[in-house]
Amino acid sequence: MSEAPPRRVLTKNRMGWASERLGAVSELFVEFAARAGGPVLDVGAGYGAASEAALRAGAAAVIANDLEPRHLEELEARLGAAERGRLRVKAGRFPREIEFEDGSLWGAHASNVFHFLTPKQVSEGMKKLARWLRPGGRVFVQAATPYQGVWAGFAEEYGRRAERGERWPGLVEKVSEYVAHRQRSQMPRWIHLLDDVVLRREAEAAGFEVERAWLYRRADLPAGLRLDGRETVGLVGVRRRLG
Ligand SMILES: C[S@@+](CC[C@H](N)C(=O)[O-])C[C@H]1O[C@@H](n2cnc3c(N)ncnc32)[C@H](O)[C@@H]1O
Repeated sequence: MSEAPPRRVLTKNRMGWASERLGAVSELFVEFAARAGGPVLDVGAGYGAASEAALRAGAAAVIANDLEPRHLEELEARLGAAERGRLRVKAGRFPREIEFEDGSLWGAHASNVFHFLTPKQVSEGMKKLARWLRPGGRVFVQAATPYQGVWAGFAEEYGRRAERGERWPGLVEKVSEYVAHRQRSQMPRWIHLLDDVVLRREAEAAGFEVERAWLYRRADLPAGLRLDGRETVGLVGVRRRLG
C-alpha cells in the first residue's frame, strides 16, 4: 500500500483541491453507506477519501466516479485487498457519461463537485440520481456557495440576481471577472456556486424528500475562503417512494 495523501491535494484537472478530511455531509454519507447493505455511488470522488472511509467502515460496495481517471487509479492503488474487492471505479463525466440501472443504488454522495456542473447538468444530475436510487435511498451533496471570501467581488451581482428571483443566481460564467489571477490558477474558467434554495428546489423536483438543506463552514475550508460561516451548502435527501 502506498502512503495516504496529505490533507488537501490538488486535483490534476484544475478542479480545485480534493480533501482528505471529510466534511459533515461526507461523514453522514459514510455512516449511511456502512449500514446500507447495497451499492453506493461517490460522484466526483477525487482521490476517494469518502469512498475509502465508506469501505473501511464496512460498506457493501462503493462505486467511485470521477472525470479524471488518474484520481481513481490513486484510490485503487492506496487500498488493501479487503477494500479493493468492494470498490468499483467508473470514470466519466457526470451526469451524461455514466449510467446505472434504475433503482440499483442505495445511496449517492457528491462532495465539492456540483459547483462544476452547469444549471442543466445540476437538474439532469439530480434527476439521474433519483432514478438510480431505490425508493428510500439517500443522496448527500456538498457544494461551494457564493458566501466564500474569494467571491467578494461577485457578492453584489449575486445579491441582485437573487433579488430578481433568477433561477440560477450563482452561475459565474467568467471567473476571471471576479477573482484575481493568483487565486484562479486552480479554478476552472467558469463555476456554478450554489445555495440551499437552489439545491433544495432541484432535489425536490427530481423526486427527493429533502431532509435537510443548510449552509455551514466545512471543517477543511482554507482560511482564504472563509467569510461568515455560510461558505458551504449541504443537502441530505431521501428518494421518495412511488405511489
Ligand atoms: C474539488 S474535487 C472534490 C473531490 C472530493 N469529492 C472531495 O470532496 O474532496 C472535485 C472532483 O470532481 C471531479 N469532477 C468535476 N466535474 C465532474 C463531473 N462532471 N463528473 C465527474 N467528476 C467530476 C474532478 O475531477 C475532481 O476530482
